[in-house]
Amino acid sequence: MNGRAARTEVSVRTSTGVGYPVLVGAGILDELPALLTRLCPAHRYALIADERVFALHGERVLSLVPGGTKSVSAHTFPSGEEHKSRAEWSRLTDGLLERGVGRDGCVLALGGGVTGDLAGFVAASYMRGIPVVQIPTSIVAMVDSSVGGKTGVDVPAGKNLVGAFHPPRFVLADTELASTLPREERAQGLAEAVKHGAILDSEYFAGIRARVGRLLDGDPADTAWMVARSVEIKAGVVSEDEKEAGLREVLNFGHTLGHAIEAASDFRIRHGSAVAIGMVLEARLGEALGVTRSGVGEELEVALGVVELPTRTPGPLDADRILELMAVDKKARAGEARFVLIERIGSVMRKGDGWSHHVDRQAVREVLQGTGAR
Ligand SMILES: NC(=O)c1ccc[n+]([C@@H]2O[C@H](COP(=O)([O-])OP(=O)(O)OC[C@H]3O[C@@H](n4cnc5c(N)ncnc54)[C@H](O)[C@@H]3O)[C@@H](O)[C@H]2O)c1
Ligand SMILES: [Zn+2]
Repeated sequence: MNGRAARTEVSVRTSTGVGYPVLVGAGILDELPALLTRLCPAHRYALIADERVFALHGERVLSLVPGGTKSVSAHTFPSGEEHKSRAEWSRLTDGLLERGVGRDGCVLALGGGVTGDLAGFVAASYMRGIPVVQIPTSIVAMVDSSVGGKTGVDVPAGKNLVGAFHPPRFVLADTELASTLPREERAQGLAEAVKHGAILDSEYFAGIRARVGRLLDGDPADTAWMVARSVEIKAGVVSEDEKEAGLREVLNFGHTLGHAIEAASDFRIRHGSAVAIGMVLEARLGEALGVTRSGVGEELEVALGVVELPTRTPGPLDADRILELMAVDKKARAGEARFVLIERIGSVMRKGDGWSHHVDRQAVREVLQGTGAR
């Protein structure tokens, strides 16, 4: 595919057999009225957005809803991960009840991953479930969170622990909406795109590097090229395995250590940054185990540096703490962390009939020693 693809449509299959399309392009938001009429006709629409995104793009989306202002209500919440909460879920569901959204309503989730997860969970639970349409505005949401059907909120015991699978009716990713996104937020999303290349597509990995300046600047056409390829990769994986019994595991590359690093920093290190550090460390772990070709960790470190992501923690990591956090992660099995290991850029190493490896604690400990900025 060349860098100027105007519009890409990817279809995602779900376990119930009902698929949904993901539309990607620069300037395709104008298709919203026709898409809603065709794929999500509703008596009332409820637009959910955080205050920041609503101020930038809310009025335009409201103006595109079929039936005009009388058939849509706007519901906002303060921007930030701390608002992906049960408290906001309650407030939003009460808001929908107040505005008379019924079983024949539809939620429009306009925003980053926080909005997609929170509004998706509102839709999943409201009147036992009403449809949701995802209109992602951040790179994280476009390349990752809007595809796959996972929704939910954070609780004191951990992130994303209360939620539901609730696939959208469709996803409309207009990369022009991301032109208002701050550069650091774009880099956060690029971490997941680099991951997609690292696990399944070396050409894509190289393509991101070649376009990195324009991607960080938010060029809508190059961003559309990237989002389209990431969505194809993620859709391919989740269509095979929606609920993470098998192939979906490959998407966890960099995340076993990444999640622990995020938690150990009390979430001061952001997810994309933690995953960048995690990918480098997991590649080095694979090298130490003789699974990953030598030099791959270095290759990842250079590529992620170009993407303006950190590849080392600010200080040395406390290996005991990281091992402890990995054991309690919700993806650990019987208290044992599992690792997705790549063989080389673009290829994951299978393990038996699965995709993740059990790794001896001592091997992990050795890789963690010597971490921290030099
Ligand atoms: N469901 C899934 O499969 C999945 C996958 C990955 C991540 N997630 C979740 O996604 C969340 C992270 O997503 P995120 O990084 O998009 O966070 P976010 O939604 O908080 O957005 C980041 C910041 O960018 C702002 N923003 C978003 N779009 C903008 C735009 N176009 N212009 C200007 N500002 C804009 C937001 O207001 C916010 O301040 C986490 O909660 C994570 O758990 C879910
Ligand atoms: Zn991630």
